[in-house]
Amino acid sequence: MQATTTDDQIDTTGLGNIVAGAQRIDASEKAMINGRSDVNQLLPLKYTWAWEKYLNACNNHWMPTEVSMQADIATWRAPINSQHGLTEDEVLMLKRNLGFFATAESLVANNIVLAIYRNITNPECRQYLLRQAFEEAIHTHTFQYICTSLGLDEGELFNMYREVPAITEKDAWALQYTQNLESNEFQTGTPERDQAFLRDLIAFYVIFEGMWFYTGFAQILSLGRRNKMVGIAEQYQYILRDESIHLNFGIDCINQIKVENPHLWDEAFQEEVRGMLRKACELEVAYGRETMPRGILGINAELCEEYMHFITNRRAEQIGLAPLYPEVDNPFPWMSEIIDLPKEKNFFETRVTEYQTGGALSWD
Ligand SMILES: [Fe+2]
Ligand SMILES: [Fe+2]
Repeated sequence: MQATTTDDQIDTTGLGNIVAGAQRIDASEKAMINGRSDVNQLLPLKYTWAWEKYLNACNNHWMPTEVSMQADIATWRAPINSQHGLTEDEVLMLKRNLGFFATAESLVANNIVLAIYRNITNPECRQYLLRQAFEEAIHTHTFQYICTSLGLDEGELFNMYREVPAITEKDAWALQYTQNLESNEFQTGTPERDQAFLRDLIAFYVIFEGMWFYTGFAQILSLGRRNKMVGIAEQYQYILRDESIHLNFGIDCINQIKVENPHLWDEAFQEEVRGMLRKACELEVAYGRETMPRGILGINAELCEEYMHFITNRRAEQIGLAPLYPEVDNPFPWMSEIIDLPKEKNFFETRVTEYQTGGALSWD
């Protein structure tokens, strides 16, 4: 029997019965959440920013296994504190850094697939989410590749989010926002539930990917600048390039939802979001201390705290909120250089990476 879609029976999944003979859609009918137009029809586009990010992401394709780990293996195997090896403090920082990312990528991926995707009612945004989910798989693959290459203890690395308190606290804090959404019964459509969805977008895009990854990037890229663990540093550079698009996509989504649903972004909610950013910053400062109790050459917990204040202010501004901390200079200006680098240039110049995959395929 052919079902019809009524107002109280809107198909937001794209898996409902086909409404045979329904009118062709107009781009203006498309919406970020609670949309009523068919989510299976990519064209006509409404949000060109989402489609452009999808294309950019595809042009940035890379695989961790393309990066040589030989130099890293030599450094890792060299005696601790020797001329060509790492110091004890660098080993601790490196392990805890890798341990955080090894499962963080998976938490982000699961949130996209199990919580966000179902509730975004726009096909061009879904197209980007599918690409992002694949990139998160590549990022998790990176930690598998690093673990295997260096011969790290798999259990130590992948169980770290259940063993190192500062990592547990960050992950548990973010998970509370996805736990509200993961039930199959959850559906946006009331102001309360729409705000729960916005909180999840903020917790994962602005905070997890936009704040908590950045101490970790700075730690590894700082090692790379001193010619240590250059393979991992190169992989982190690619991850950072991907993540800056993830972050910008999340910010565009949040700001577009605000434009379409201004009632959700009231004073009380803005104050709540500011509280989330402040708490997230504190959790990240604690992570900096737990990964670098004594600091290493060029980077320490105090500088990371300053950096996190700088980043938190920037993220607040990107979603239309006033800064949370007094104006502070970026203590790691070289991080901006890496982020702004054209994609075909490798910061460490270990290889040239023009990864445009859309060229002509030859079938003969
Ligand atoms: Fe990632
Ligand atoms: Fe990401």
